[in-house]
Amino acid sequence: MITRRSLLAGTGALCVAPFMPGRALASTTHETLEAALAKVQIAPEGYPQTEIWSYGGTVPGTEIRVRQGERLRRRLVNSLSEPTSLHWHGIRIDNAMDGVPGVTQEAVPPGETFLYDFELPDAGTYWYHSHNQSYEQVARGLQGALIVEEPEAPDVDRDEVLVLDDFRLDPETGQIAGFDNMHDFSHGGRFGNITVTNGVFNKTLDVKQNERLRLRLLNTANARIFEFELQGMEGWVVALDGMPLQQPKPITESFLLAPAQRADLIVDVTAEEGSEAHLVRLEREDGFSHVLFNVKGRAAEARRPTPMPLPPNPDMAVDGLEDALHSELRMEGGAMRGFVSAQMNGRAVGFREAAQSMKFWAMNGMVDMPDTPLLVAERGQTVRVQMQNDTMFPHAMHLHGHHFREVLPGGGLGPMRDTLLMFGDERREIAFVAHNPGDWVFHCHMLTHAASGMMTRIKVL
Ligand code: C2O
Ligand code: CU
Repeated sequence: MITRRSLLAGTGALCVAPFMPGRALASTTHETLEAALAKVQIAPEGYPQTEIWSYGGTVPGTEIRVRQGERLRRRLVNSLSEPTSLHWHGIRIDNAMDGVPGVTQEAVPPGETFLYDFELPDAGTYWYHSHNQSYEQVARGLQGALIVEEPEAPDVDRDEVLVLDDFRLDPETGQIAGFDNMHDFSHGGRFGNITVTNGVFNKTLDVKQNERLRLRLLNTANARIFEFELQGMEGWVVALDGMPLQQPKPITESFLLAPAQRADLIVDVTAEEGSEAHLVRLEREDGFSHVLFNVKGRAAEARRPTPMPLPPNPDMAVDGLEDALHSELRMEGGAMRGFVSAQMNGRAVGFREAAQSMKFWAMNGMVDMPDTPLLVAERGQTVRVQMQNDTMFPHAMHLHGHHFREVLPGGGLGPMRDTLLMFGDERREIAFVAHNPGDWVFHCHMLTHAASGMMTRIKVL
């Protein structure tokens, strides 16, 4: 029996039949992407359906697949009763198409439309989501996967997109719980009480022994950091945040996926025919199986050697570190630490006063996006940002329009990413080439944090 209690704990004794409504609708919307209400089965069967805000009638929304170098054209049709916008997370995009209300466009009012039309320079695993009131709109379902295919696909048997998310449902009604919870804003963020994969609880996939899978993991949750381990599968990380690693990295231990981050894995199913493999979540003590792979049948080929690296995307080098423009970003605030004083709406406020407007966080002493950018870079200039997390909480820092590399303590450079997870009291440095002109926001992807102060921007001339 699945009890209400086990639902709230995110567990479930039974394996629940997958339910994925609305796929047919999705395939008819080539040129438009409609944001509208929909009803879907998020909670296990037997529980009520949940009303969501969706792109194309499902959560995650219509999967968009294009080839590298192609143009993507989608007219957003806003059939909701709130203004909205579309942000294409991780795409090195034209600034005007970045979808940030108040920075690159006005939010699209109810009943109106906006045409997004841009090129996709990079192959990889990306996503799209609302960037208006995103702490609420993304959590209500306005999100979907954007897959940009390499000109030549890697040698795998299957390509599976796994969108990992959580929802906070009212246990009585099954509806999405309200968004006025002060604790969500001042602490770690809004966590759901049910975790889902591709919109369903207890996702199950049939695989074959020896099959080689590409798993595209996307964390679209508001605040949850997933910690995963593979069981019955062995493999490599081949890309992070869309960008290929120079060499596939063998998965020998558990790995983290912070909000907005992606990881592309290539895995071989090593579990025997008739048994199970799992993507296991370790942050739960009971070793919860997040995705269950039923091993049915057996592929002829035995285990294969290390896969080839994915072809690199253009302009992945970050050089010129010695003559870089230096900048600092200090994060402060939140429960248990507060801040003494910060600028908000043009004047100095104390923590208590800021808290009355649900603002709990500051970056460089500023609450919300200041009129002056964090930094102004010439086009092509290399930029280094030293980041100091003076809070008690982790933050997933996301830069728009660019990917960056971490400058490692030993002097080396980390993988190319668009979102960096920083734990409390950590100090980390990133570097990037400011190749893309425009105003780009830089914010925490724990979405209630972004809404309560953790948002700044950079300007590239
Ligand atoms: Cu995925 Cu500014 O967002
Ligand atoms: Cu944060």
